[in-house]
Amino acid sequence: MSNRLQATPNDLRAFWMPFTANRQFKKDPRMLVAAKDMHFTAADGRQILDGTAGLWCVNAGHCRPRITEAISQQAGELDYAPAFQMGHPKAFELANRLIDIAPDNMGHVLFTNSGSESVDTALKVALAYQRAKGEGSRFRLIGRERGYHGVNFGGISVGGIVPNRKMFGTLLTGVDHLPHTHLPEKNAFTRGVPEHGADLADELNRIIALHDASTIAAVIVEPVAGSTGVLIPPQGYLKRLREICTQHGILLIFDEVITGFGRLGSAFGADHFDVKPDIMITAKGLTNGVVPMGAVFVTPEIHDAFMHGPENLIEFFHGYTYSGNPLAAAAALATLETYKEEQLFERANELAPYWQDALHSLKDCRNVIDIRNIGLVGAIELEPIAGQPTKRAFDCFLRAWEKGCLIRTTGDIIALSPPLIVEKGQIDQLVDTLRDVLQEVD
Ligand SMILES: Cc1ncc(COP(=O)(O)O)c(C=O)c1O
Repeated sequence: MSNRLQATPNDLRAFWMPFTANRQFKKDPRMLVAAKDMHFTAADGRQILDGTAGLWCVNAGHCRPRITEAISQQAGELDYAPAFQMGHPKAFELANRLIDIAPDNMGHVLFTNSGSESVDTALKVALAYQRAKGEGSRFRLIGRERGYHGVNFGGISVGGIVPNRKMFGTLLTGVDHLPHTHLPEKNAFTRGVPEHGADLADELNRIIALHDASTIAAVIVEPVAGSTGVLIPPQGYLKRLREICTQHGILLIFDEVITGFGRLGSAFGADHFDVKPDIMITAKGLTNGVVPMGAVFVTPEIHDAFMHGPENLIEFFHGYTYSGNPLAAAAALATLETYKEEQLFERANELAPYWQDALHSLKDCRNVIDIRNIGLVGAIELEPIAGQPTKRAFDCFLRAWEKGCLIRTTGDIIALSPPLIVEKGQIDQLVDTLRDVLQEVD
């Protein structure tokens, strides 16, 4: 084993880790020191099968040569270029390549550095657009219960995950929430899109009746709610949301941070469900997770509403020091080439039935109360231990790690989303490991 692999820091105290049980982790750290394709290498040299594409982002697998070479070349050529009032070619090239693969109603792209920033950017675009076209009374934003839209103030305001919201004061005002679409009593163990629940979209009509459409700027949903534990939209639900939004002049925003870039077997969730949003939020798979970057897609109508007034004036007072950063743009371009050359979105689509069968083979395992799947995403929901919510799933996570598989848990749900290069044998390994783990934990 090389020294590099043995190296572990001698003091873990200073780093306050994100979304982590810090005290538990620091007593028994799970340290990753290298990665290649479908595997991480742990500090003790073990190979860990990546069942989660890192955090839903490494869709092309780890340390892909085209991407690492693009970054290192870019770092030596143009390391940074100011993002305001200046440009560099790769940011423009990337925006064009993204529009090429986006739904055909998308025309322009704003760059950010993360999903959370993409969310807040999209919400600001929506509010400012309504005002730019003379409908400034539309100030309300409608999210959904159990939605995850990152951790910034806009995102947690429209989001619906209680622990992510409850500590942080009043949040944005003028926000309301649709009900979530999880109906286990009707849809448990559905393969793919569940049959029941499209009528939940009609709750938007109730919210409109309450507030009046003239006060509502936008509705934001994830096509498939990922972080809350993979909630797949009922058949017809997204189409219905689209119809109601169109009818009332409300923008529909899809947060595609997880569903973008092949996760469902097509470029975007919008393609998979054949529903066109007005604004589309992405990050994660955009750069294969390698360099932080997000992209917000908007229609020409939205963009053009800002292009008025003297040409020497800034049209939209928003942006980041690192919007379209050269290294991120180079990584994203190389990522898009990799997806295309290896036909990874198609591959995800072809593997989806195998993935579905493999996951549903766990149906009779102990404590399993639901299994859900779509594309190369899956969730296994467990009966919580009475009085100890989340413990059973977290114990599964720890046990799977010991057995060489990285899974992710949220509440008592195991969520899976392997890189799109996963082989059938690796799907088997993941599922067999879970079968053993479910047998072993209390
Ligand atoms: C749907 C969705 N939106 C936004 C985010 C936030 O992205 P980030 O962690 O890059 O800020 C996530 C992250 O998981 C997400 O799943």
